[in-house]
Amino acid sequence: MTLQNLVCIADLSDADISTLLNRADSFAEAQPRRGDLGAHPETCVQLLFYEDSTRTRTSFESAAARLGYSTCLVTASGSSVAKGESLRDTVMTLQASVEPNVLVLRHPENLAPAHVASAPWCTTAVVNAGDGINEHPTQALLDALTLQRHFGVRRLDGVHIVIVGDIVRSRVARSNVALLPRLGAQVTVVAPQEMLPDDIQSWGVTAVTDLDDVIADVDVVMMLRIQKERMASATSLDLGQFHNSYGLTDIRASRMRATSVVMHPGPMNRGVEIADDVADGPRSLIVQQVRNGVWLRMAVLESLAGAHG
Ligand code: NCD
Repeated sequence: MTLQNLVCIADLSDADISTLLNRADSFAEAQPRRGDLGAHPETCVQLLFYEDSTRTRTSFESAAARLGYSTCLVTASGSSVAKGESLRDTVMTLQASVEPNVLVLRHPENLAPAHVASAPWCTTAVVNAGDGINEHPTQALLDALTLQRHFGVRRLDGVHIVIVGDIVRSRVARSNVALLPRLGAQVTVVAPQEMLPDDIQSWGVTAVTDLDDVIADVDVVMMLRIQKERMASATSLDLGQFHNSYGLTDIRASRMRATSVVMHPGPMNRGVEIADDVADGPRSLIVQQVRNGVWLRMAVLESLAGAHG
């Protein structure tokens, strides 16, 4: 596989997607623990996180540890980023001191990982761990892996997935809309008009504003977090009203097909976009998504570790 960086889904050929998902699936079957794949501390993964993270950060760390790689974590608070050091200076400092093979970067600005990856001073492979409202490619890949494993299929032909909620501010939605149709899935996005992006026509998926119109006819309901931290402070979102119209409540979930499943990338606003009993109920794949994130990120790190070596 010829992958040099993973900054957006469009970076991946169809063959890359199947190679990564197949490799991740084999890790999911074998469930390697730390030490099982030997020790390769000379391969180093640098995590550079300018935004908060629990799942993404720890799953990259766990994935690297299970591959026997070493890791170095830098977060914006507690580093010289807090003193105003630029992204370029920060990356060049880490390259000079840590000499990472792979840089996993989460950043609030759209396209920051793409700019680093293409910069002449960048000597590492770059993985986008979420950039602004742009993309979160490893989340979409782990969502695809979770669906493949749940339905026992390689392709998602005939699987109808609705992505519900704060679409306009969701990098998870953008990456999933770029990925899931390439595996054959039918994707519909559902949101109030103000949570749909102006350019939704160009996304190539159906957009609707009434969840109750579609909920009984879909195989997968993927709920998104309301991204309060990305909303202008002037926005007066009525969370109770959102919950009533778009929240995945017990009553709405009871209208889903018997075999349909529920996903959420986390972190969840329980009681807002999803009710406790649905999040913790038998249809929920939310914990499997987190678990599959480790196997998927193992496949990504393994394939990129040697790319710039
Ligand atoms: C998402 C993110 O940070 O983009 N979380 C995650 O990585 N699992 C979604 C979110 O923050 O709502």
